Amino acid sequence: MKSTTFQLPPELLRTTIRLDVEAELIPFFLCVTIGTTSTTIIDLIRSLSEVTKDYGILIHVDAAYAGSACIGPEYRHFIDGIENVNSFSINAYKWFFTTLDCCCLWVKDPDALTKSLSTRVELLTNNASDLKQVVDYKDWQITLNKRFRSMKLWLVLRSNVVCNIRNFLRSHVKMAKIFHLVESNNMFEVVVPRNFAMICFKIFPTTLEKELNGCNIGSGNIEAKLIDQEYANDFNRICLRR
Ligand SMILES: Cc1ncc(COP(=O)(O)O)c(C=O)c1O
Repeated sequence: MKSTTFQLPPELLRTTIRLDVEAELIPFFLCVTIGTTSTTIIDLIRSLSEVTKDYGILIHVDAAYAGSACIGPEYRHFIDGIENVNSFSINAYKWFFTTLDCCCLWVKDPDALTKSLSTRVELLTNNASDLKQVVDYKDWQITLNKRFRSMKLWLVLRSNVVCNIRNFLRSHVKMAKIFHLVESNNMFEVVVPRNFAMICFKIFPTTLEKELNGCNIGSGNIEAKLIDQEYANDFNRICLRR
């Protein structure tokens, strides 16, 4: 296991912002991740938001995949400092049992959105909007229209009690923990820490080399060669036959 956690280091962020400011640039937005989908890396929201606060930078948390897990109390610590951010999003279609597509976006200050995105034209006016009896989501986005996705999320919430959803997610994490045993096979290396239900692993280059020599399909810089799709496919076919 590599020692690095692949997180964005708060001190590096501070130094980079300082350099930007010295260069008369205006840093204004930071997007951090909770369980980014390719590796499930978790940024430290509290420490990063302390840096952005010093410079008045907006901070968004992209929790597309792993935000769902935070429905379980045992995962809440991953969003420590969440009260300091401006917005947070999860893709319910990823790990919240809702069909494609359905993204939930929470914003701390909806006025900031509506001030820049609202459209007030005569043909769109109506009493309910004028009297503020309804929320006009057209004012929260660039487009005026969006498909009605909230019903399917509502059905997921209504048809599964919260403990069932938590238990589903926990069962996926449990399977990943078992699959983590792949590391005990000396052919493979787990390349990033497992945080949720995904394991990123790769075959060791030395193992590859041995396999390839045995298969007689080539030698040289194996890792570089595997970037070639055809070569990688040939190699995978041979491995699968073994
Ligand atoms: C980390 C991450 N952020 C954002 C997105 C995009 O989400 P959306 O489908 O809502 O555009 C994805 C989609 O795969 C993702 O994995």
